[in-house]
Amino acid sequence: MDNPMNVLAIVGSVRKGKATDILVDKAIEGVTSGHLNCFVKKVNLIDYRIGYCRNCLTCRDSETKEPVAKCQIRDDMDFLNEDLLKSDSLILGTPVHMGFATAIMMTFLERICWTFAKPEKNILTLSGCPLPRSDKKRKAVIIVTSGIVPPIYRIFCDKATPLIRGTIRDSLNAKTIDSMYAGDIEHRGAEYYFDKAFNLGKKLV
Ligand SMILES: Cc1cc2nc3c(=O)[nH]c(=O)nc-3n(C[C@H](O)[C@H](O)[C@H](O)COP(=O)(O)O)c2cc1C
Repeated sequence: MDNPMNVLAIVGSVRKGKATDILVDKAIEGVTSGHLNCFVKKVNLIDYRIGYCRNCLTCRDSETKEPVAKCQIRDDMDFLNEDLLKSDSLILGTPVHMGFATAIMMTFLERICWTFAKPEKNILTLSGCPLPRSDKKRKAVIIVTSGIVPPIYRIFCDKATPLIRGTIRDSLNAKTIDSMYAGDIEHRGAEYYFDKAFNLGKKLV
């Protein structure tokens, strides 16, 4: 029997049942096809009450030894933080909105930025940059969908992937092992990318 693995899939689309949501489901199928002892939780951020980070910096400046510092805001991030703590692997999906991640994905990332990280104190390196509070290592894959721009022009229309990759590395100690850009989805349809998403999920195992 495989070692137990907790996978958390996070969907940053404002639309359920559409391209990003469907491709994240395919990636989940890929994970579960290759791992028999795998618990998957899927979260559509649109279903959660997530307030904007207010830049009070209480979490950043917290000296806690816990893997997550307390945020001043009481909302559904309390539950999502518990899911993140349990997770061994992550699937993150977002549509491209104006070349970037969606506002809800961005709001979520801002909220984990300093709760799961503390400022780097080593003066020889970039002092003040976020360092994960926990040593727990995670793996991640990222799925980005875009309506019009095809994959060949990804470089001009995908600031979402580096943003997500950097944030989950610095806050959640998560290594992004691969990502996919499902471009021109308005014309190609999500089906065009099913195999790619499935295989991406398999890579997490
Ligand atoms: C506000 C907004 C901005 C968008 N910006 C872009 C863009 O810069 N490039 C692009 O190709 N598609 C853009 N799109 C289209 C979405 O990326 C596309 O519809 C995507 O497949 C939506 O994902 P979903 O089906 O999971 O909702 C934008 C859509 C919205 C609503």
